[in-house]
Amino acid sequence: MCGLIGYVGDRQSAPVLVSALKRLEYRGYDSCGIAVTLNGTMHLLRYAGRIGGLEEKVATLGQALAAGHCGIGHTRWATHGRPTEANAHPHADCTGRVLVAHNGIIENYVELRRRLIAEGHIFHSETDSEVLAHLIEARLNGKLEDAVRGAIAEIEGVFGLVVIATTEPSKIVAVRRGLPLVVGLGEHEMIVASDVPAILPYTRDVHFLADGEIVVLRADHVELQDAAARTIECRRQHLEWTAEMAEKEGYPHFMLKEILEQPRALRDTLCGRVRGDRVVLEDDLCSRLNGALTQRLRKAPRLQILACGTSLHAGLIGKLMIESLARMPVDVDYASEFRYRNPVMGKNSLVLGISQSGETADTLAGLREARDHGAVVLSICNVVGSSIARESDAVLYTHAGPEIGVASTKAFTTQVALLFALGVYLGGLRGALSRQQIAEHVAGLDRLSEDMERFLATRKAIEPLCERFHDHASFLFLGRGISYPIALEGALKLKEISYAHAEGYPAGEMKHGPIALIDAQMPVVVVAPQDHVYRKTMGNVEEAKGRDGKVIAIATEGDNEVQEKADETIFVAPTHPLLSPLLTVLPLQLLAYHIGVRRGCDVDKPRNLAKSVTVE
Ligand code: AGP
Repeated sequence: MCGLIGYVGDRQSAPVLVSALKRLEYRGYDSCGIAVTLNGTMHLLRYAGRIGGLEEKVATLGQALAAGHCGIGHTRWATHGRPTEANAHPHADCTGRVLVAHNGIIENYVELRRRLIAEGHIFHSETDSEVLAHLIEARLNGKLEDAVRGAIAEIEGVFGLVVIATTEPSKIVAVRRGLPLVVGLGEHEMIVASDVPAILPYTRDVHFLADGEIVVLRADHVELQDAAARTIECRRQHLEWTAEMAEKEGYPHFMLKEILEQPRALRDTLCGRVRGDRVVLEDDLCSRLNGALTQRLRKAPRLQILACGTSLHAGLIGKLMIESLARMPVDVDYASEFRYRNPVMGKNSLVLGISQSGETADTLAGLREARDHGAVVLSICNVVGSSIARESDAVLYTHAGPEIGVASTKAFTTQVALLFALGVYLGGLRGALSRQQIAEHVAGLDRLSEDMERFLATRKAIEPLCERFHDHASFLFLGRGISYPIALEGALKLKEISYAHAEGYPAGEMKHGPIALIDAQMPVVVVAPQDHVYRKTMGNVEEAKGRDGKVIAIATEGDNEVQEKADETIFVAPTHPLLSPLLTVLPLQLLAYHIGVRRGCDVDKPRNLAKSVTVE
């Protein structure tokens, strides 16, 4: 749940490390630090707080660091030990020769720490990570990479790790097991980071480290070794993401920028997959299984979806889409529940993991569990080379671009669009849809980015409504059918961004409990597009109004009835009912955003949250 960085090259490393940490701050932001080697000495600066504080500290105290060209850095989201300066990374060994920055959890750190203390090592922090520095110290009598290899052999758990040592001052060693690390291959400079945005300003040529690989970085050379210390070839990839794509482009927050990027993200995601009047997913789905997957997709008795948070809401929508379009039964589980409930899986099982980051620990573990039972694993991911993507038999990538705001927005709509495309594709494959029906669905999907654009162009109209409701303590979100997951998503967005209490509920369940909450203080957001359950949802609007609730309706353009009944109405364009979530979610994202901003919240980095939840 932390951000790692390492830089060696022609530039002064301290400013590179600090600015890279800023781009990784979404991975965790309770404390941070950098270490730089210079003339055989290690210079370390750490800070309990955000990177801005570290930057000031570097400016005032960091003269000694300034001339160094090799260093590592870390931004932390605490798991073991409080977010103090002593617990901030990098961590040193007893001699100050070895510095490590670590992401992950060392499951056997208690025993290791006890043993190392008995051997005479002195610990300075409460973290599990510090054992790594001492384990490396104990083995450092030759090459740093050999000491690192020996140390990690003792570690139980998943990690990403970057290490420097005064014994070889122009070298960084990095290794991963289970958590992401990517190496940027520049001209006279090499950079390693836990995520791509940190690397983009320097190079777009990268190598995604695989589990067990150890990489040794020098300014002009990268050496890659497998777990058995054999030298292996770099799998160089050229990324299309530009540095600008990973930055705010003048918007006050990443979240707003990412909300507004959704039409573009949708087009990019569908590009090449919607061809003429067909959905073409063979290139994505058949790459690793050479066509065997097509047979499985045609015959599989059901599909199991696993995800967490917003991605799970996309999965709930995907279930309704795939069941309706392909007549294939779909189950959706929270990955955190699935992995511990002894699921019924076998070699005919087909599982789909959905994850923006591709690193969510529970989703990854759930997919591994399914694979252990013989299931074929598909995934929908946004991050190329992420753990989930690499461990899947086939991946459908959302081309949303980097999502930096902790609240997921463009990843969600691109996931939903891909799920619709998958539903249409499966509908064709399994004979549930005619060519004519496929062509109609494809046309509907194709139109959506324009409908999104049209809605987002009028977004300012929502601001007075947000002003009116921003100080309410509690909100209820209701929807039926395909709008129920949108109610869940609207409530999740609002609570994580504004810290207001919000509950999403199936509208039909209102009278089984939540109706007791409704009074004049309770805004009730009703997602009511014109679909087959519209009438039923209107009944819920009446019930809420009958108890003085303040109804904010999300409705289809031209719906005068709802406008007369609701206190506020936000209209979206008419579309096929199965596609309506791609439009009805937009006002809810904006509602959460503006209310969060008005309440003075840090919408891009809400308290207690991290972008990639890489620990349980
Ligand atoms: C969404 O706004 C959240 N911050 C969170 O629920 C997120 O969707 C969840 O952690 C899953 O992440 P993933 O898509 O990267 O797996």
